[in-house]
Amino acid sequence: MKEKKKIWFAMCLLLAVAFACDYKYITPDTGDPVDPEEPISFSEQVEPIWTSQGCIACHPSAGGLDLRVGTAYNSLMAHPRAINNDNSTESTILTFKTVQPGPHGSVDYVGNQSEIIKVWIDQGALDN
Ligand code: HEC
Repeated sequence: MKEKKKIWFAMCLLLAVAFACDYKYITPDTGDPVDPEEPISFSEQVEPIWTSQGCIACHPSAGGLDLRVGTAYNSLMAHPRAINNDNSTESTILTFKTVQPGPHGSVDYVGNQSEIIKVWIDQGALDN
């Protein structure tokens, strides 16, 4: 019985450490896990996030970034830092909270939205 408790404790500790090490500048993920092997659709899964999170209130233009449906893809590709194909977690579309804390105090991603965007970038940031 005691041994079992120890193993249980160790497993919890491992889990805690694993989650704590998740990307520290990115909204923690609380939603369903995203399968990195499943193709993410930009138009169906990624693009609607910026509308639902209220980003487009300022981002038809703020910072040179237009996140509205239909224009978001080209605008992101034209931006110098928004998407980092070599290291997705450095993309400012994920780290914007710390890059520009001022205007971004009231907005954020929720659930697994940051994970969806991260996996989409890892899959090549396709216009699909
Ligand atoms: C209240 C207005 C406002 C809202 C809402 C807003 N932003 Fe911004 N955002 C700004 C401003 C202003 C800048 C540019 C700041 C600058 O250039 O100094 C900016 C810049 C950015 C940048 C560029 C950062 C860089 O320099 O590389 C990204 C990415 C970004 N925002 C993402 C988002 C996302 C995603 C959301 C929604 C979750 C969002 N913003 C919501 C005002 C806003």
